Amino acid sequence: MAESWLGCTARGPDSRLVLTITGGGADQILIYSCVLLSNTTCLSFFLFYHLQSIFVGPFCTIGSEAKIGNACKLHTGSHVIGNTELGDNCCVLSGAIVGADLPGRTIIGSNNEIGYHAVIGVKCQDLKYKVGDECFLIVGDNNDIREFTSIHRSSKSSDTTVIGDGNLIMGSCHIAHDCKVGNNNILANNTLLAGHVVIEDCIHTAGAIVIHQFCHVGSYSFIGGGSVISQDVPRYIMVSGDRAEIRGLNLEGLRRHGFSTAEIQTMRKAYRKIFMRRDANTESFEDRLSEVELNRELAEVSAVCSMVKSIRDSFTESRRGICKFGHWRGS
Ligand SMILES: *[C@@H]1O[C@H](CO)[C@@H](O)[C@H](O)[C@H]1NC(C)=O
Repeated sequence: MAESWLGCTARGPDSRLVLTITGGGADQILIYSCVLLSNTTCLSFFLFYHLQSIFVGPFCTIGSEAKIGNACKLHTGSHVIGNTELGDNCCVLSGAIVGADLPGRTIIGSNNEIGYHAVIGVKCQDLKYKVGDECFLIVGDNNDIREFTSIHRSSKSSDTTVIGDGNLIMGSCHIAHDCKVGNNNILANNTLLAGHVVIEDCIHTAGAIVIHQFCHVGSYSFIGGGSVISQDVPRYIMVSGDRAEIRGLNLEGLRRHGFSTAEIQTMRKAYRKIFMRRDANTESFEDRLSEVELNRELAEVSAVCSMVKSIRDSFTESRRGICKFGHWRGS
């Protein structure tokens, strides 16, 4: 078995345990105050890793291949197993499991908090995954991953599930195999991403959202509570509903992220030209996109171009198109 209970790898003098972990540049960790309950379970101990201390609570597992960064805290009954790297200053709360004994790797950056009973970097649920194939998960820095969230590794060795930096992933979320989540997103509780979903940056979901596999969610968009997303959400847009529809620009999100009033006004003009045309039937959608791009005043605002690009990209090969337009409050 690749994994071993911490404290069982080797025993030093005075019932101190000496554990060899190859990670992080040093290869020896001295464990103090260890009370052995059995030869597989330690009750309580501290690790001192060079001068920086790592805290490991009772009933934790650290796999023999795991690498734990400086100043990490593993709370009671948390587990870091398999070929898993935990960066500096991470906190793994009780019941959380990081990594699995599978070929491939789980890499977690620095300053991440992994909530109670979260399950991060385990085998995916895709039936195409073949036992024995390598699979990967990479998580960046400064993420807050809350209780009961699960994040799966890729479904094949040529792909990787990726989470960027600064995301708040609230309780009971699911991020499936091969998803790519960018930076500074807020996923409210029970946001469920199917396989291969792409989330760009600074998006916000309300609670209880499901996103169909292969959908893309553009930066600065907002997804209303209880939505079912089965097509792409363009950048800066707000959608909601079962088979979510476009409801307007994400005005509140844009303001919060520091877009100026002038920028937002211009984006509104572009939005109206694209989605709210009286002559909608006489012009193709593509014509409307081109018209916005060719309009100097509109194209001057980079967010307008970025919105048009994001819509266009959704109609390229193998993409799913965008959510239908469903007028709500206007924008
Ligand atoms: C869901 O999220 C909200 C914050 O938006 C939080 O206050 C609430 O406690 C959460 N509920 C659960 C069950 O996690």
